[in-house]
Amino acid sequence: MNFQNAAFESASGRVEQLPPSSVPEIVFSGRSNVGKSSLINKLLNRKSLARVSAKPGKTGTVNFYRLPECRLVDLPGYGYAKVSASEKLRWAELVEGYLNAGRNIRLVVQIVDFRHMPTQDDLHMIDFLVQAGLPFLIAATKSDKLNKTQRTQQLDAYCTLFEDLPDTLLIPFSAVNGEGVEEIRRQIELVCMGSVQDS
Ligand code: GTP
Ligand code: MG
Repeated sequence: MNFQNAAFESASGRVEQLPPSSVPEIVFSGRSNVGKSSLINKLLNRKSLARVSAKPGKTGTVNFYRLPECRLVDLPGYGYAKVSASEKLRWAELVEGYLNAGRNIRLVVQIVDFRHMPTQDDLHMIDFLVQAGLPFLIAATKSDKLNKTQRTQQLDAYCTLFEDLPDTLLIPFSAVNGEGVEEIRRQIELVCMGSVQDS
């Protein structure tokens, strides 16, 4: 699969504005500021196709990026305290509306910060994915910020935390040095394989 020729397709602020579900969709989910947009840019080998925010909580829409074989979907981040209650409600409705719409979702890349254990919001999201039967992997980002000892500690702690999900992939990732990029691309290719190309 060629990850080089992606284009921004559309942004939806409300469930009614979501584009029809046709092509396979790869979804990127995580708390605000965890690095969703940076991960997407790294996969696509682009500096700033997906907007990277200096301040957290900036992506308030579901953003769609188009590749020939699939769409990449950047979800608004959850868990940012400074967003108003009404904004939070709109985001929650939008994200749930998107995930519950029976779309052609082939994979959710659930992004967590490798320096820390998952937040309560992260764990709720993972629980939701399990209950909904959505296929997902966990990308543990900002791995470049850990030294060797911390990395081993975090890997151990994550494995223990997720021992009830033995089939779930945990992929250390860094948008800075590219760790994990090829592995995530490979998983996307696997889930898109055999799909008929759509316009
Ligand atoms: P929202 O759209 O606001 O929810 O944020 P986001 O999840 O899209 O995060 P974004 O990609 O905008 O990154 C947030 C901050 O983290 C930026 O300052 C990035 O430069 C930084 N960042 C993202 N990924 C990495 C990484 O792998 N390593 C390091 N060191 N910094 C990262
Ligand atoms: Mg973003």
